[in-house]
Amino acid sequence: MQNKTDSAFDTMFGQEVHEGLTAFPKYLSSKYFYDETGDKLFQDIMAMPDYYLTESEFAILKRYSPEITKLFSEDKQPFSLFELGAGDGKKTKILLRELVAKNVDFDYRPIDISQNALNQLELSIKKELPAVPINPLQGTYFDTLQDIGKENGRKKVILFLGSNIGNLLHPQAIDFLQKMTAVLGTKDLLFMGMDQKKHPQTILNAYNDKGGITEAFNKNILNRINTEFQGNFDPDKFLHWEVYDPETGTAKSYLVAKEKHMVLIASLGLEINFSQWETIHTEISQKYDDPTVEWLAGKAGLEIVTSFTDGNNFFKDYILKKKAL
Ligand code: AVJ
Repeated sequence: MQNKTDSAFDTMFGQEVHEGLTAFPKYLSSKYFYDETGDKLFQDIMAMPDYYLTESEFAILKRYSPEITKLFSEDKQPFSLFELGAGDGKKTKILLRELVAKNVDFDYRPIDISQNALNQLELSIKKELPAVPINPLQGTYFDTLQDIGKENGRKKVILFLGSNIGNLLHPQAIDFLQKMTAVLGTKDLLFMGMDQKKHPQTILNAYNDKGGITEAFNKNILNRINTEFQGNFDPDKFLHWEVYDPETGTAKSYLVAKEKHMVLIASLGLEINFSQWETIHTEISQKYDDPTVEWLAGKAGLEIVTSFTDGNNFFKDYILKKKAL
């Protein structure tokens, strides 16, 4: 719970809303999509056929989990399995089941920005996989990397599934991966899911469903500002708009003002003017190919051990380790 004596401006979210909505062009960070409603909407997105990412990675994990878990455990060292952005853990459970079946000595440390998602995950693991020792940790990827670093001694395997890294532009991704490399020992592994470049229409469809679930997800950030900072955004005054640049592999989400209007955000003392067709950039979902992943890994002091893909080559899971000096 937020401390009532803190002003809204003292929160990270408050500061970033202030910064992004007074900037030109306007922007908000997609990390704030995920409150209870946002978590639920993202689960609905993952269940949509157009959002091929989830099913593709699911297929990879199902097909290769024996090989993957063997790579995690072939040195017979007990390890901590960290997961950044664990969410509902639906895909991870495939690996957890395989690790339990093979009697591998490990513990599971899911990390998520959403306490709500972590609570649900912990309950479901205790029920479905009681043999798995679980230790959830709430925080952003960046804060929790520090905690991961402090866990010295035990071997670490870090899962970063679902192309969650795609929310970062390349320079931020490199910075993030460098911080990751800094907490990795020579035996540690990073298992990272990265959505691949493909037919641009397939990508656009994944972020533009006709049912309006992605639209609701994108607009949830406005509702959050309304509830948390006494704002008066009318989400109906905005369009959800998606673009994809096949050259850079960057998909971008926008909210576009359909008419000129003003929005008040009382707790932040903000009055925001929108002209007609003015945008708020809300998310990037980067798509990758092997040369780009090799380049990112190299910049971060990592190397690719191996990778696994699905039958359509839509998605890839890479196993990375610290580059030998
Ligand atoms: C959770 C960041 C991987 O970018 O594909 C889904 C979030 N946004 N639909 C993505 C998202 C719109 C998703 N990630």
